[in-house]
Amino acid sequence: MNILIIGGGGREHALADKLASSSLCTHLFISPGNAGTALIGQNLSIVVDDFAAIKTAVLGNAIELVIVGPEVPLVEGITDFFSHDEVLKNIPIIGPSAEGAQLEGSKAYAKEFMGRHGIPTAAYKSFAQDQLNEALDYLSVHAYPVVLKADGLAAGKGVLICHTKEEAQYEIREMLSGKFGSASATVVIEEFLSGIEFSVFALTDGNHYVLLPEAKDYKRIGEGDQGLNTGGMGAVSPVPFVDKEVYEKVVRQVIEPTIDGLRVENIKYRGFVFFGLILVNGDPYVIEYNCRLGDPETEAILPRLRTDLVALLMATWHGTLDKMQVEFDARFAVSIILASGGYPEAYEKGKVINGLDLIAGSRVYHAGTTQKEDAIVTSGGRVIAITSLASSLEGAIEQSLLNAETIQFEGKYYRKDIGKDLMERSRVNGER
Ligand SMILES: Nc1ncnc2c1ncn2[C@@H]1O[C@H](COP(=O)(O)OP(=O)(O)OP(=O)(O)O)[C@@H](O)[C@H]1O
Ligand SMILES: [Mg+2]
Repeated sequence: MNILIIGGGGREHALADKLASSSLCTHLFISPGNAGTALIGQNLSIVVDDFAAIKTAVLGNAIELVIVGPEVPLVEGITDFFSHDEVLKNIPIIGPSAEGAQLEGSKAYAKEFMGRHGIPTAAYKSFAQDQLNEALDYLSVHAYPVVLKADGLAAGKGVLICHTKEEAQYEIREMLSGKFGSASATVVIEEFLSGIEFSVFALTDGNHYVLLPEAKDYKRIGEGDQGLNTGGMGAVSPVPFVDKEVYEKVVRQVIEPTIDGLRVENIKYRGFVFFGLILVNGDPYVIEYNCRLGDPETEAILPRLRTDLVALLMATWHGTLDKMQVEFDARFAVSIILASGGYPEAYEKGKVINGLDLIAGSRVYHAGTTQKEDAIVTSGGRVIAITSLASSLEGAIEQSLLNAETIQFEGKYYRKDIGKDLMERSRVNGER
């Protein structure tokens, strides 16, 4: 079958790599793709939310399966666009309806959904633009630190952790008066939870679900989790502290009530659910939902997936996930992101990338790269993901660090401590 992936980052290259390895995949198209996806499929220069151009490409290339990578087209309703179109409505597309995507598209919506279905999450209140005084009063009696979240999508930059009342009251004024545009027309104020974060992924057909490997990502730019938030500087899968007991709690208290909630509320959801979780004294709490696979988590979990991804996605579309068994490689996967110097603040593009042909023992997923004459050059903040598999966490870390040195471009930056906290923790706690 002909398959189209929408998106152009490391997640989409990892998806392309996995889908291309399936005997069910004939031709692969990626829009817009990058220099890496161009090696395994055909890039189409269409932006992710140009639905009319996507329709033309789907019909023009006889596409039989569409996978939507990033959240923006999902929140803007691409699957509804397909289902309301007489020609497109029978073409399988993986991703929730616009209503289902609200689990990510609106923090307030997600909190209310969790409240309705008894799903553990931080205590919160949400405030609209005309409720500034109420918000200020709420903050004057709230415990600190406190978390302020722009309700709408803010590209991972809409969450602020405030340590003092003064800071929080200053920021709430800024946010409600448009710091993040319409995304902060409503702000969720929530209790700060202290614990260790991890992510769990499920694929659901609306009734059934299958679990994909869990992962832990590293959001901060600096080692030791210091500095600004980024889109993610690395990921590890599996996560040693997510043992059988923790997983059972996650399934019972979070995943099943979420899937049941979607079903009883008749919310159309055929796609990935990304549970952003935090473990507080052994109990899982939902920090957030994302309505798509994560980046860089995808670059760590897909190389471990043994089951045919095309078959899994077609079962998602046909509602037969209960007939599928998911198998994955027990080894550790460690993914390290190579970023442009200055990211997540200002950075330069167009740097020639060398050493890609020298890589051994790791997978290389392109993110912000493009072809320029004979060279591959940088074209984004996050440039390349390097993923290695090994039977020990230490082995996978070392292999990825080795190859992180092999690839060269001017201003290259990467964290040298991805996974090391888990290694230390495993050593102390005797985890796997
Ligand atoms: N209640 C909380 N207590 C403690 N830390 C929190 C809380 N909520 C959010 N955070 C921190 O802020 C980060 C970002 O929050 P959240 O995941 O809700 O936002 P996001 O912008 O949707 O992120 P992403 O880009 O991962 O989708 C979390 O990974 C976590 O480190
Ligand atoms: Mg999010």
